[in-house]
Amino acid sequence: MSFQTLFTKMEDHTLIITINRPEKLNALNSQVMADLDAVFDRVYKFPEIRSVVLTGAGLKSFVAGADIKEFESLTKEQAIAVAQKGQAVFSKIEKSPKPVIACVNGFALGGGCELAMSCHFVIASESAVFGQPEVNIGIMVGYGGSQRLTQRVGKGRAMELIITGKTINATQAMNYGLVNYVVPQTELLDKALSILRVSHEKAPLAIAGSIKAINAVWDDQAHGYEVEAQCFGDCFVTKDAAEGIQAFMEKRTPHFTGH
Ligand code: COA
Repeated sequence: MSFQTLFTKMEDHTLIITINRPEKLNALNSQVMADLDAVFDRVYKFPEIRSVVLTGAGLKSFVAGADIKEFESLTKEQAIAVAQKGQAVFSKIEKSPKPVIACVNGFALGGGCELAMSCHFVIASESAVFGQPEVNIGIMVGYGGSQRLTQRVGKGRAMELIITGKTINATQAMNYGLVNYVVPQTELLDKALSILRVSHEKAPLAIAGSIKAINAVWDDQAHGYEVEAQCFGDCFVTKDAAEGIQAFMEKRTPHFTGH
C-alpha cells in the first residue's frame, strides 16, 4: 500500500496509518483527505486488516487542522463542497466495520480533533492538546465537529470549546470523555495495539455489528451535518474569514469587524 501523504504498516492484523506531513504539523490538505478516503476503502475490503490505528508523524502533532492555505479564496460553494467531502471521509472512518483507534500524539486541533472523534475511540499522549480553534480565523467547524463534539462531551462543553476556540490538555480531555486513556508518548502505540489484540480474539462480524449499532444511536443526525456544511460555506463570504485566514498566513493577530 503506498500513499503520497500516509505511511502504512501492518502489525498483528492492525493497519497503522500515520499521516505524514510533519513539517506542516500533519495539516489535512486535499491530498491527505483523498489518501484517507482511499486507505479506508482498503480497510473495508481486505480481510487481513482486523483493526486500525490512526496517528500523526513526529512528536509534536497528530493533526493541526485542515490546511488553512487551501482555504484562501474559496467561494461559498467550494467551501460547502470541502466540508461535505471532509464529512464524507470522516463518516467512512466512523462507519468502518473494523475498530479504529486514534493515537493522538500532540496537537489535535480543528479538523484534527474532528478526525480523532471520527475514530471509534481515542488514546492520547501526555502532551496531547485538543480544540476547535476555527473561530480564531473567522470560520467554524466543518468536518462534523459540531455534531461529534456534542455527542462526546455534551452540549455545554461543546459550546464552550467551539465558541471560544480554547484548547484543553490530555487530562482535561479525558475528564470530558473525549479520551479513553492518557499514556506517555512512548507507550501510545503499544497501548492501542494491546487493546486491539484483545478484540482480534473476538468474532469479526459481532464486532462489525456492535460498531454499527453504537453508531446508530446518532443515525438521524444527517440534518445537523448539512447545517454545519452550509454555515461553514456562509463563513467564506465574510470579510472576517478572509482577514482571519490572511492573518494566519502572515503570522499575526486578526482584526475582526463582524462583516
Ligand atoms: N494549516 C496549514 N499549515 C499549518 C497548520 C494548518 N492548520 N497548522 C500548522 N501549520 C504550519 C505552519 O504554518 C508552519 O508552517 P511554516 O513553517 O511553513 O510557517 C508549520 O505548520 C509549523 O507550525 P507553527 O505555527 O510554526 O508551529 P507552532 O508550534 O508555533 O504552533 C500551532 C503550533 C498548532 C499552535 C499553530 O500551528 C496553529 O495555530 N495552527 C493552526 C491551528 C488551527 O487553527 N487549526 C484549525 C484550522 S481550520
